[in-house]
Amino acid sequence: PVDPTADQVDFLVIGAGIAGLSTAIRLARTGSVLVVTKEELAESNTAYAQGGIAVAMGGEEDVALHLEDTLAAGDGLVEAEAARILVEQGPKRVEELLEWGTAFDREDGELMRTREGAHSRSRILHANGDATGKEIAVSLLRHVRALPNVRLLEWTTGIDLLVSSDEGQYCVTGATLLDGEGGILTIHARATLIASGGAGQVYSDTTNPAVATGDGIAMAWRAGAAVSDMEFYQFHPTAFSAPNAPRFLMSEALRGEGAYLINAKGERFMQRYHRLLELAPRDVVARAITREGMDGPVYLDLRHVTQDLHARFPGISGFLARYHLDLNRDLIPVRPAAHYLMGGILTDVNGRTTLRGLYAAGEAACTGVHGANRLASNSLLEGLVFGALAAEAMIDCRGCSTLPFHSTKPEASASFAEGRTPDEQIERWVQDLRSNMWKYAGLLRDAQGLEMMQRILEALAATMPRGLSRPAIEARNLHAVAAMIVNSALARRESRGAHYRHDFPQHESVSRHSVLQQDDLSFHE
Ligand code: SIN
Repeated sequence: PVDPTADQVDFLVIGAGIAGLSTAIRLARTGSVLVVTKEELAESNTAYAQGGIAVAMGGEEDVALHLEDTLAAGDGLVEAEAARILVEQGPKRVEELLEWGTAFDREDGELMRTREGAHSRSRILHANGDATGKEIAVSLLRHVRALPNVRLLEWTTGIDLLVSSDEGQYCVTGATLLDGEGGILTIHARATLIASGGAGQVYSDTTNPAVATGDGIAMAWRAGAAVSDMEFYQFHPTAFSAPNAPRFLMSEALRGEGAYLINAKGERFMQRYHRLLELAPRDVVARAITREGMDGPVYLDLRHVTQDLHARFPGISGFLARYHLDLNRDLIPVRPAAHYLMGGILTDVNGRTTLRGLYAAGEAACTGVHGANRLASNSLLEGLVFGALAAEAMIDCRGCSTLPFHSTKPEASASFAEGRTPDEQIERWVQDLRSNMWKYAGLLRDAQGLEMMQRILEALAATMPRGLSRPAIEARNLHAVAAMIVNSALARRESRGAHYRHDFPQHESVSRHSVLQQDDLSFHE
């Protein structure tokens, strides 16, 4: 039954990164919007983006080259139509961002541009040196806060989607949420957007903040939405690597500004792996570092670069100073860490999922725009471009005419909500899941390791944390996402982009997307 105290809005947006906030700004022109986020509004994967936003603002030829680079990096799996939309609509969306007050770095009034791996041109805009995501998040928040139609709710975690059956079709009518005091909120909405980002926390080694637990993807999957390409997790090649230190991102822009990669013997090694050397596609560089790293540490070396790297990379320099390291003077130890999920909730280019009333954009979505390996700095652009298209589709959504019911298997939901596992026990359980995912479903995979991980996930399911607390909800979601990654990775018997199988090192002759709908896994061209 409908909860009479429940809130009703036109649009519910789950997540407050670049996709969620930019979509909310558009939705507010036609209706009431509720944006919910798990922590403070400033805390999202977007806010951690360093390198910048890739955009071809130099006319047709520039746009064509950006498309070519995006297709090439994606290793045969990019949906060409999505990529074309991304690069063609990107400039317009970035102009808008400038109008909304985002201050990208300029030199003599002109926007500065840097280069990253697999880009044929310098086309990446940045802000405050290496704090691009933060500048975008702050300017979007400033804009959204001034809109009377938008309500922002911090410290609020999604529990499950509300689903009804409407004219023989499943239809999403909102969501249940956990507020900061442990209360349950029921929100009904004409259209719901999942923009809750990725799931880096499924791995012990990640550049992602603690909030990246794949909640929106797991919620959509439990509600019956199709999820695609979950085996494609991008590992950033150069996260900081020192005992007990966080896996802080050492931006690819460092290599764009000339950094070499060297092994423990002091040799540059990328010539053995790719003609683009340190600026090869990300998946190639990450595997090369893993291989070289078997014989000792791998370093970024900028000692030959003459520019003042502290001014260009103030955030990275500040972080390194805590470890008595200096970009201009020292070798910086690095190794790969989980960074970005190419897969996610299956959508068309307008953010429509396979469930009416449910939309997804940004890292939580899978339009196929990144294929098997995302081109560096294409993700902020993705959030803007596909967020704008999702907003148009949501405005057109007529909603569902019937009352919601809970789509998740009732026995599973009831047993999950019962009792309350202590937080310390949940932490140990999650650590176990994350370290095993890193070991058995990380950068280099094979059937033996993936089958082992399936058994570990089965054992973890038997001790699944319970209760409607944020740690328990996140643990359940991480388990769901881990299972999607492992099952899809085992079924994909080839190597492509970020998914590398020792036992199937070649491409299959056709490129196919994996699609998961609850427990059914299939492949589609
Ligand atoms: C980086 O700055 O290296 C990250 C950029 C990205 O993930 O695209």
